[in-house]
Amino acid sequence: MKVIIREKAKDAAVWAARYIADRINEKAAKTSEPFVIGLCTGSTPIETYKELSRLVKEGKVSFKNVISFNMDEYVGLPESHPESYHSFMYHNLFDYIDEPAQNIHILNGNAPDLNAECEAYEKAIRDAGGFDFFLGGIGEDGHIAFNEPFSPLTSRTRVVTLTEDTRIVNSRFFDNDMNQVPKQALSVGVATVTDAKEVMILAFGPKKARAIHDAVEGGVSHMCTVSALQNHPAGWIVCDEAAVGELRVNSYKYFKAVEAAEKL
Ligand code: PGA
Repeated sequence: MKVIIREKAKDAAVWAARYIADRINEKAAKTSEPFVIGLCTGSTPIETYKELSRLVKEGKVSFKNVISFNMDEYVGLPESHPESYHSFMYHNLFDYIDEPAQNIHILNGNAPDLNAECEAYEKAIRDAGGFDFFLGGIGEDGHIAFNEPFSPLTSRTRVVTLTEDTRIVNSRFFDNDMNQVPKQALSVGVATVTDAKEVMILAFGPKKARAIHDAVEGGVSHMCTVSALQNHPAGWIVCDEAAVGELRVNSYKYFKAVEAAEKL
């Protein structure tokens, strides 16, 4: 994996957006096949989405031939709820880009048969040709999507039960009341993410430092599901300085040296 470190979160977020735009443009120059991307929600990707929206507005990239699949959604929360991931994605990205509505996929946490919804989602990803790229965040507990500790690294899209830690962390969006945070979600699996040709995880702020240490310097383990990225041929972790505060000095120096040598 490669770890990109920028002093400020904003610079890291912009770097990530430009990287994604370059990948979309690169594929568009080679083929008429769509670019298939996995997208995340949360506080972390907001600046990256702002920059992507700006690039679309300026005509530097287009999502007309992009197909997206979001990584997760709460179970039982109405789509119109301001904290649903449906709402988040439209308010932070889809309202500002030119991705056709039929190319947007978000799991339905209110489907009458949740297992069937998850199976259909995996099939739709396969039918689209599989992910070219997956953008994710990392939970304070090391989760990727809602793959909490002890999720199999071979997992696929399914119904998951959120840890108390995650519900406490996410209660900031629900009047600081964890009882309002749904207990379950639909989430792509770890293997759904790592099947992507390229995976990029964004992590900003000191609260992510322990998880980044575990993901980068710990062993590959279901205790920190982002650690599955260690076995991925094209895995990126894009951080600000605060998020790498618990990496060893030598690891930090190595990643900075790679950045410099490869002009990343
Ligand atoms: P955050 O969430 O971006 O709001 O910190 C990330 C995650 O839980 O994966």
